[in-house]
Amino acid sequence: MIRRFAVKTLLTLLLVFSLTQGKAGAGEAPPIVELGPMLGYVGPEEAHIWIKASAPASGGVIVGEGADLHKGRAVSGPDLNAETDNMGVIRLTGLKPATKYFYKTTMNGIPDAGSPHAFITAPSGGAKGHFRFAMISCIGELERYLHLPRAKASVTAAWRALAKVPVDFVLQLGDNIYAGTTDTGVQRRMYDWHRRLPPYRRLMAATPMLAIWDDWDYAGGTALGDSDGTASGKQRSLRTFKQHWANPSYGQPSDPGVYFKFSRGDVDFFMLDVRYHRSPNVSDDDGQKTMLGRAQLAWLKQELVGSDATLKFLVSGSQWTNSGKPDSWRSFTRERNGLFDFIRDNGIEGVVLLSGDRHITAGYQVQQRFVEITSSPFASENHPPPYPPKEMFMLHDKGNFFVVLDVDTRIRPPHVFFEVHRVGKGMVRRQQLSWQVINGAVRIPTCDIFVDCRN
Ligand SMILES: [Fe+2]
Repeated sequence: MIRRFAVKTLLTLLLVFSLTQGKAGAGEAPPIVELGPMLGYVGPEEAHIWIKASAPASGGVIVGEGADLHKGRAVSGPDLNAETDNMGVIRLTGLKPATKYFYKTTMNGIPDAGSPHAFITAPSGGAKGHFRFAMISCIGELERYLHLPRAKASVTAAWRALAKVPVDFVLQLGDNIYAGTTDTGVQRRMYDWHRRLPPYRRLMAATPMLAIWDDWDYAGGTALGDSDGTASGKQRSLRTFKQHWANPSYGQPSDPGVYFKFSRGDVDFFMLDVRYHRSPNVSDDDGQKTMLGRAQLAWLKQELVGSDATLKFLVSGSQWTNSGKPDSWRSFTRERNGLFDFIRDNGIEGVVLLSGDRHITAGYQVQQRFVEITSSPFASENHPPPYPPKEMFMLHDKGNFFVVLDVDTRIRPPHVFFEVHRVGKGMVRRQQLSWQVINGAVRIPTCDIFVDCRN
């Protein structure tokens, strides 16, 4: 038995050695982890980790509960090769809920020389608990600005600011990069530039990042048009998106897209794709016009009505409010109101709307019923709000922002606070969303002019 084990070990070492030699080639440096690792979905029993290698290699991870990884388990991942620009996701399974794990990436079986990273698995499904998450959007810069020191400085400062605030995970709600095209090469360059920035890289190794897209990371950027279901090359964008993130899933087997659901204890998150199936904003609302597409909308309704979660966050790149710009749910009110009616008719409680896109951070009570928090811009410029502040109760429109949601479901009714953090200033607002406000039983005083919203 022992002899067989020794032979097996020797064979494994030989295999690793030959792979290393074979992939690196004579005189070439062996492949290293060039970007990442980035934590993606971290559930109660699994964790997804994204990496990009410097050259084709077999990626993997050693994971264990001890910092020295002495009893660590080696998990092999996909082949990282030219087809995926040497990127891939390693899926760790069989983990214990609410447990701290240490991990190191491996290239061709050889562990990374640096210190291990760590993460904590999510609590068991349905468990009550306290957690915090950040939501950000409008994160990057246009490619033509990337060479400018200020581009690097603003994105770096934003990630540094976020790293100082304790959160359990980060939601990136779109305009995560400003590619403005479906071209794979441009999109990859934008992701690479961003993920090379040291504070972002440090944070992504230790804090799960989950993402959906908006116009700039999907296709043309709204100004260029076609950031909807008619965009040519959208399949290319979808493939590139999937290669760069480690979300739990993407769309459904029969319906492509980046949407997915995940749960944290007894809280559900519905991360929506508001681009892939979207009708043009200017189309007539003839009964067919759609933001989500038929399959995604049906999926969302089915999941909502079947959910016994205390809170349900509906997360959209575009704003939900009636006072959004035309490139938002404002141009899709038939579908949106149908969803709102469905929530009301089925007595679904605890729904909170989240959004990005607008280059302002704002709060709304949509149709005097649903609370919406918009978080933007994390690291790009401000855009003035162009419409009278209908439904608005809060506005931060000067500076870079991220919003943190602080959720405690151990208390009945649950406590939900949101915090507005301004880069360079720290937390500028912390406000509770009472259970009555969340369920539309109490109206939040709205402001009629922008100056009042800024208070
Ligand atoms: Fe943006």
